[in-house]
Amino acid sequence: MCARETDWYKEMSFYQIWPRSFKDGNGDGIGDLYGIFEKLDYIKDLGVDGIWFSPLYVSPNADYGYDIADYRKISPEYGDLDIFKKVLDSAHDRGLRVIMDLVVNHTSDEHEWFRESSKNRESKYYDYYIWRKGRSGGRLPNNWDSLFEGLAWTYNKDLDEYYLHIFAVKQPDLNHDNPLVREEVKDIMRFWLDMGIDGFREDVITFISKVPGLPNSKSPIPVGRGLRYYSNGPRIHEFLGEYKKDVLDHYDCMVIGEAPIMKPDIALAYIDESGAKGLDLMFHFQHMEADCLYIDYVPRPFSLRKLKRAFTRWQEEINGRGWNTLYLENHDHPRIISRYGSEKFRTESGKMLAASFLFQQGTPFIYQGQEIGMTNIYLETIDEYKDVMTKNEYAKKKRWSEEKKMNLIRRATRESSRTPMQWNAEKNAGFTTGEPWFTVNPNYPEVNVEKEEADEKSLLNFYRKALKVRKERPVILWGSYKEHFPGSRTFYTYEREYQGARLLVICSFSEKAKKFKTPKGFDLDKGELVLSNYDDNPADNNSFISRPYETRVYLFGS
Ligand code: GLC
Ligand code: CA
Repeated sequence: MCARETDWYKEMSFYQIWPRSFKDGNGDGIGDLYGIFEKLDYIKDLGVDGIWFSPLYVSPNADYGYDIADYRKISPEYGDLDIFKKVLDSAHDRGLRVIMDLVVNHTSDEHEWFRESSKNRESKYYDYYIWRKGRSGGRLPNNWDSLFEGLAWTYNKDLDEYYLHIFAVKQPDLNHDNPLVREEVKDIMRFWLDMGIDGFREDVITFISKVPGLPNSKSPIPVGRGLRYYSNGPRIHEFLGEYKKDVLDHYDCMVIGEAPIMKPDIALAYIDESGAKGLDLMFHFQHMEADCLYIDYVPRPFSLRKLKRAFTRWQEEINGRGWNTLYLENHDHPRIISRYGSEKFRTESGKMLAASFLFQQGTPFIYQGQEIGMTNIYLETIDEYKDVMTKNEYAKKKRWSEEKKMNLIRRATRESSRTPMQWNAEKNAGFTTGEPWFTVNPNYPEVNVEKEEADEKSLLNFYRKALKVRKERPVILWGSYKEHFPGSRTFYTYEREYQGARLLVICSFSEKAKKFKTPKGFDLDKGELVLSNYDDNPADNNSFISRPYETRVYLFGS
């Protein structure tokens, strides 16, 4: 029996904080929990119901917190357990739930387990990680690629063996086949849940079970080799089931798993409510590929039809069996206005994008800065970027001209979402009184919280209204989903229906004027316009000519 009485996460929306860039409270240029504490009312006023913290733990920052050296301590850069508890209690006092990032596919190589592990084979910790001898002829244990830098193996002299790292060299993979590792994971979970947190976002959790023997990849493409041998691996459901039964079921909590290269039919094995699901929610990536191909970012022109196919597929296939997760931004992707919208029509397209995902069925996640329409940053040289993945993407393109490389980086880097949060038009956007650790986007005098708060028609106020409407209308929380005009290259149109109430969401992804014709069965004159991004909303005979990135949300029935 689960200690959670209702699936409360279904009625919630979340705000994601990437702590380093949210708000600096002590003037050292790095965002921290003191700064977060100051901004809890801002988060509450947005209308969300919970916060997801990207990692706050001790880390050498090879991957900004996703390489953890101590799972039970707050990084001194961000504060300590006292201020964490204060933030947690104050969030709870405001009715905000708090979930923490749990990064257990790998640790930092500076974690004491890894230090011990790499000393000698007799150590209890040796088998916490995945060590292998090299193959004959000085070859690595297998041909897998690291997703972040080079190949997936790094040599250790003391052991004369290689350790596996699917991500950066400083992120050795843990061996979840070892029951001792699983006990450690459970202890870490209990530590935070006992403190009162409400759940976890589990980092690349679908990668934790590796196929025994770690077979060579036969893929002809030298990118992401090995993925099929650790993505949704043979024991994944057993491991997640164990974490659930032994720990999670004993707390009033939720878990959301990050799942790269996921498809709905495979997702259901994790989140289908009729089974012993290992996860409540899942972050998949399919709708984030409408202008590129992952795993190695290959740019493509934006395709609305590709975006709509991904949206609709997940809505249709998960609906009624599991629960969807809705997002357009997080700390791993460039800013959405710069991708699927338009920097020129920043506010209009920002509102349209908000309507495109917030009214689908599922639990929305909003990433810091998304609600004020922050956009990508375009830096001059690679040295100005800091992220291991970004630097590696650059380094890999050995034959490309400098200009071509930098154009790719400027368009593709996830660091565009990691610039300091823009609070006001003062120095450093009000993020810090010191020297900011990373460049502030020069558009801050125009794009900042203070300005957005003062303007009734701002994007921020649109988000606030949208989140309020979402909560007040059962049709948005519980209604069925239907897409109209899937072939349109201009409009994304969807309908929700619940107990006689219907919602119609119209989104133009174009700056060109196009004629929109209302789907059969709707009379716009009879609808209540609950949200839109232009002052007047004329319609003639159930059609109208759309303005750049126009969106309208109509409600029919009560
Ligand atoms: C996840 C995180 C990302 C990190 C990677 C390795 O994808 O979201 O930021 O770099 O895992 O931990
Ligand atoms: Ca600080």
